[in-house]
Amino acid sequence: MSDNLRFKDKVALVTGAGSGIGRALALALAQEGASLILAARSREKLSQAAGQAQPHAQNEILVQPTDVSDRAQVEKLAAAAQQAFGGVDILANCAGLGYGGPVLASDPAQAEEMIRVNFYGLYLVTRLCLPLILARGGGDIVNIASVAGLKASPGFAVYSASKYAVRGFTDSLRMELRDRGVRVLCVNPGMTQTAFFERFGSAPAPPQEGQRLMPPEHVAAAIVEALALPAATAVNELTIRPSWQER
Ligand SMILES: NC(=O)c1ccc[n+]([C@@H]2O[C@H](COP(=O)([O-])OP(=O)(O)OC[C@H]3O[C@@H](n4cnc5c(N)ncnc54)[C@H](OP(=O)(O)O)[C@@H]3O)[C@@H](O)[C@H]2O)c1
Repeated sequence: MSDNLRFKDKVALVTGAGSGIGRALALALAQEGASLILAARSREKLSQAAGQAQPHAQNEILVQPTDVSDRAQVEKLAAAAQQAFGGVDILANCAGLGYGGPVLASDPAQAEEMIRVNFYGLYLVTRLCLPLILARGGGDIVNIASVAGLKASPGFAVYSASKYAVRGFTDSLRMELRDRGVRVLCVNPGMTQTAFFERFGSAPAPPQEGQRLMPPEHVAAAIVEALALPAATAVNELTIRPSWQER
């Protein structure tokens, strides 16, 4: 274990922590000493993530199965974090999902789910956990948007709209909290090798042989470096793509 535990004594609440970017971020923070509250719907996947994180540090890990789009469950998540740790230093909103296809063929139930999880859930967790961050005198909020929230994405119109919403919300929140000791970071990942693409059957093929989607650990590493900067400096937006990805 490294002596240089940059997140020792920090408590990180990570949604979407059962897989992909959320899990990679939770593990990276645990490796540097953070205690964790892991949230997503699947208890089994969260327990696996907790098992992977445990050997990294003498930290505490709370598994709290939560549907981020359900207000009562998010209230329980915030209460559990309060009871276990008395506050939160880092909130990472990584829960999200996408469905593709043209608007004309889209399923309104899937559209509603994307808006409810990607945007409303992110808002809800932020709204209900922000008092826990302020109770610590400040901290960090990390919201995972997407490159689909930077440019219009035909074939992903509702997903793209949900991510534009995340970016608008996140920068507004940054301005509201800038003099309250809370840094707010919006992350726009490009194509990342996660379970995200399982809903599409397979991930899009990179243009050339030998090119790969980005490992979620690279996204996590960039976020960790941003969080590790002195509190007086804030990275507010981070776009990270595989080098070959155009937009
Ligand atoms: N992969 C990419 O190329 C890419 C690119 C840009 C942005 N992103 C964004 O990155 C974020 C993480 O996605 P990922 O790529 O890491 O995919 P992933 O591996 O599928 O992870 C998504 C996580 O979100 C959780 N989740 C889904 N619905 C939830 C709900 N209602 N309540 C709580 N948790 C929920 C999932 O767990 P449960 O199913 O157990 O709840 C899972 O832990 C998403 O916001 C996604 O839009 C991904």
